[in-house]
Amino acid sequence: MSTARADPKYILVAVAWPYASGPRHIGHVAGFGVPSDLFARYHRLKGNHVLMVSGTDEHGTPIMVAADREGISPAELAERFNEVIRSDLRDLGLSYDLFTRTTTKNHYDVTQDVFKTLHDKGFLVRQTMLGAFSAATGRTLPDRYIEGTCPNCGFEEARGDQCDNCGHQLDPSELLNPRSRIDGEAPIFRETEHFFLDLGAFATQLGTWIGEQDHWRANVRQFSLNLLDELRPRAITRDLDWGVPIPVDGFEDGKRIYVWFDAVIGYLSAAVEWAHNRGTPDAWRDWWQNPDARHYYFMGKDNIVFHSLIWPSMLMGYGAGGKVGDEQGELQLPYDIVSSEFLTMEGKKFSSSRGIAILVRDFLARYDADALRYFLTAAGPETQDTDFTWSEFVRRNNDELVANWGNLVNRTLTSAYKNFGAVPEPGELLDADHALLAAVEAGFESVGAETASARKRSALVEAMRLASVVNQYLSDQAPWAEIESNKARAATILYTTLRAIDNLKIMLAPVLPFSAQRLHEYLGHEGDIAGALEFRQEAEGDVNHTVLTGRYEDWVGSWRPSELQPGQTLREPAPLFAKLDPTTVIEEELARMTVAGETGDSGAVDPT
Ligand code: MF3
Ligand code: ZN
Repeated sequence: MSTARADPKYILVAVAWPYASGPRHIGHVAGFGVPSDLFARYHRLKGNHVLMVSGTDEHGTPIMVAADREGISPAELAERFNEVIRSDLRDLGLSYDLFTRTTTKNHYDVTQDVFKTLHDKGFLVRQTMLGAFSAATGRTLPDRYIEGTCPNCGFEEARGDQCDNCGHQLDPSELLNPRSRIDGEAPIFRETEHFFLDLGAFATQLGTWIGEQDHWRANVRQFSLNLLDELRPRAITRDLDWGVPIPVDGFEDGKRIYVWFDAVIGYLSAAVEWAHNRGTPDAWRDWWQNPDARHYYFMGKDNIVFHSLIWPSMLMGYGAGGKVGDEQGELQLPYDIVSSEFLTMEGKKFSSSRGIAILVRDFLARYDADALRYFLTAAGPETQDTDFTWSEFVRRNNDELVANWGNLVNRTLTSAYKNFGAVPEPGELLDADHALLAAVEAGFESVGAETASARKRSALVEAMRLASVVNQYLSDQAPWAEIESNKARAATILYTTLRAIDNLKIMLAPVLPFSAQRLHEYLGHEGDIAGALEFRQEAEGDVNHTVLTGRYEDWVGSWRPSELQPGQTLREPAPLFAKLDPTTVIEEELARMTVAGETGDSGAVDPT
């Protein structure tokens, strides 16, 4: 078994930035959160150099609409939900190297540098367009907030930016019978001047590049290739006063950079901030200007076009710099775009306002993070839209997590702790013992390969299959029957099982970090394989902001077979997971959904 430390890779785990417009529900974290975290944790265990970045997406209309509704400023609203969201993500164990926000000075600087550089290089064009404005407030009505009939296929609920029925990219003024989603009024269209990103200039280069990405999922690749033919200049500024200012003379007032343009730049600016925060200001270049680095992007499927076409065009156009790039190398393009499908809730589309949603913090107030992580990995929307039901959640928790892995750990640790108090000294291992260890150790290859390709469900199925193999071994060997008659053989069996569990602990740690850490401690090990995440205050001048991060360089685990030492003192074990009572959970949760639906108030402000 290779230790894989010889050739560490630079891996950027780029996670979609959640809007700070309200608390996030489990549909959100199913898409971008859990899949990216288990990928990052796996690569850290492999000894690779992982940089996992994201933050709250704080500009744009979702925030403005929510702030209006509450009668506060967008900045205040973003401040509040940045805190809520980062706490939820921490409690779910999402191990960002840096989870920051788009309202930092650093992010403004980097965004303006990218804008200015694209402008200087001639990739931005100025055009007068028909803008949509709210009849009531006079404010810009963003594309997504305009609904109407698709001129291409006749679908009546097409959005101003895209038709979800035929997939066409749209301009709001092309919609037939347009109306505002905020107040139902027909928008007013008026001439306004904006900057457009000249996507057509990158069409050939994009085509060649995407053509080479054989490892992309077929749907992401085909979807992106199909859009190539209709690439046209895309407006990247808006008539708003909330957003990153436009760094061009004469555009300082009343217009701002479009939220999507600044948000994707967050992947770069967050890396720059991370390097700065730790006192090594150039360290981000090892990921961004290193042709061998690999960038993996995680998001829901509605975000694909921004990551497969628009952001790559911006990166190609920026080239080696700009101020930030400083001609020290071209910025890396995405290596993979891992998009998830949608999660529905008891058969319905998630909707915070209709009570068809469960917020991350409500979930975590009642159930363990690992139970949710397990469910979303085993049954989340990895390759097709999937439905969250409480009965399936309880079933997976009880019949799989508790009955298979939890039970294996519990009966082994209890018996070893009670009878030996330490990892027992084995006698000679028999064929069955060797065979078990070989079968489990093979998981470092099989589970690892699936995880590395972001096939998380099949990685988990494989790890759980190995847990069943160990359960079967334990039932066959029945060490408890031998304790009185043949304590030496019982010691060998328990030693073998503990080592198998120590292996599975590592393979499952990316999915189940909290229980893996506890198991690590019960087994008598020291240190963290999945330690606590932390908030840190970072100062920019006299303004502070709080980021979510962790001390991953101090974590001790590695993706290789256990070397569990006989004689190592065990700590008193307790069950890793809680069994749930199906009747209570299902009745209570369905009743909660009804109540939230009736009052129409789940405390959430989710505009989508
Ligand atoms: N805020 C967007 C959403 O929730 C995602 C932004 S991802 C980034 O759909 F690319 F812009 F970072
Ligand atoms: Zn259409």
